[in-house]
Amino acid sequence: MDFNNIPELEPDRQYYFMNKCKELILDKKTEANRTLTYCVTTFGCQMNAHDSEKLKGILEAMGYEEVEDEKADFVIFNTCTVRENANKKLYGHLGHIKNLKSKNPHMIIALCGCMMQEDHVVETIKKKYSYVDIVFGTHNIYKLAELVYMNLSTNKRVIEVLEKSDTSVENLPTKRKYAFKTGVNIMFGCNNFCSYCIVPYVRGREKSRKPEDIIAEIKSLVANGVKEIMLLGQNVNSYGKVFDYTDGKIEQVASEDMVTFPKLLSMVCQVDGLERIRFMTSHPKDLSDELIEVMAKEPKICKHLHLPVQSGSTDILTKMNRRYTKEQYLQLVDKIKKAMPDISLTTDIIVGFPGETEEDFLDTMDIVEKVRYDQAFTFIYSKRTGTPAAIMPNQISDEVVKDRFGRLLNKVNEISSERTKRFEGSIKDVLVEELNHQDKKLVTGRTEENVTVHFEGDSSLIGENVKVKLLQCRGFYFIGERIKEDE
Ligand code: 5AD
Ligand code: SF4
Repeated sequence: MDFNNIPELEPDRQYYFMNKCKELILDKKTEANRTLTYCVTTFGCQMNAHDSEKLKGILEAMGYEEVEDEKADFVIFNTCTVRENANKKLYGHLGHIKNLKSKNPHMIIALCGCMMQEDHVVETIKKKYSYVDIVFGTHNIYKLAELVYMNLSTNKRVIEVLEKSDTSVENLPTKRKYAFKTGVNIMFGCNNFCSYCIVPYVRGREKSRKPEDIIAEIKSLVANGVKEIMLLGQNVNSYGKVFDYTDGKIEQVASEDMVTFPKLLSMVCQVDGLERIRFMTSHPKDLSDELIEVMAKEPKICKHLHLPVQSGSTDILTKMNRRYTKEQYLQLVDKIKKAMPDISLTTDIIVGFPGETEEDFLDTMDIVEKVRYDQAFTFIYSKRTGTPAAIMPNQISDEVVKDRFGRLLNKVNEISSERTKRFEGSIKDVLVEELNHQDKKLVTGRTEENVTVHFEGDSSLIGENVKVKLLQCRGFYFIGERIKEDE
């Protein structure tokens, strides 16, 4: 390699490696006499899904073509470690893929994402999964091309997991799942250290992107046909507290200069051509009155708020280090509902946190009844090594947890279908996403409240925002009918 020619600055350096890989991949294509394919398998949250769009952009720039089958020539798993189940799934896939690799000499297997930030995982991969070629973490996703080049040019396994991000790289290629909607990172990492959660350890400290970079990205997305964006961060309500500058220094910004999350939202609303704005996730402790005001005022901001409660018991919330009480959460919900009576509220709930008594659990049932969530994602507590909760006394038995989980699930489902029904008969803007999987005469889209609607239509409607009458509620979704604008 001619080291003198390698650009030092990003993103030029990565474009250099994308081109270098492209040359090597072209040779491989000629040798194999066919195109070479890639498959990205994503586990976990929206953040990972968005990271996968970046991985795909880089792989396409290197000359690979996407397929959905893990028989591909480049297979990459973007992993999640928020609960034990996600880890188990990865090992299942790896077992299966070993056979595929033995039949395909061109195959490269890469692992990245949250799970790779854990030392014990990387040790296991090193020892037991010698057929994995490339391993990297959450802080150097942008370096995929460089890591692939190192692997292709040396034929050696490449492992690079960083403890924190030294830089934030802008302007790399991405390949969006949908042409008309996508996520936009506004911040990375988390400083909250909820006692059950591994995220702060694997995603690192909270860092915000500069507002001007975010706005520039959104403008360019809109110019390329995007109508809906989801602003992404582990805790968007604390946006702006720390800025990460591209020279690698992290600078704390004085509060009077701070662009807060509501201010950022107002700036995003000014982008012409952008139709819908979503965001996630909001931590209740940081949700300001200013945010409620901006949400209520700005028609582009979807009337949907994901507000994880985790538990309804103040005792458990304290042990979880959530820094709000049951009463404070309920007061916040009241304020939000007063300002936006039709808002859709969704949440995350954990059942079986260490020390959870029947009484604590009944508090969770009670908060669910009081708030009446449109949707609630319920999780069984999963012990994550290295978090404070993992060594708390009174871990709850499987039997008790399963019973509570079942009762909670029944309750949230019952309320959720009652809530969804409130839209029956109304006319809503629906952003059409795709042809219906079961019935190709139907298309499927979402309202701003994130309710799924199926109605008659064809592929020409995909990416369009159309008026639809919600005729029939079927549990969690609607069958609707398109209303022509002139009717
Ligand atoms: N066990 C169960 N659920 C968890 N979550 C985070 N960590 C754990 C854990 N150790 C849930 C929280 C969070 C969501 C993304 O995942 O509810 O809001
Ligand atoms: Fe985990 Fe809490 Fe941070 Fe969310 S806010 S990522 S639950 S530590």
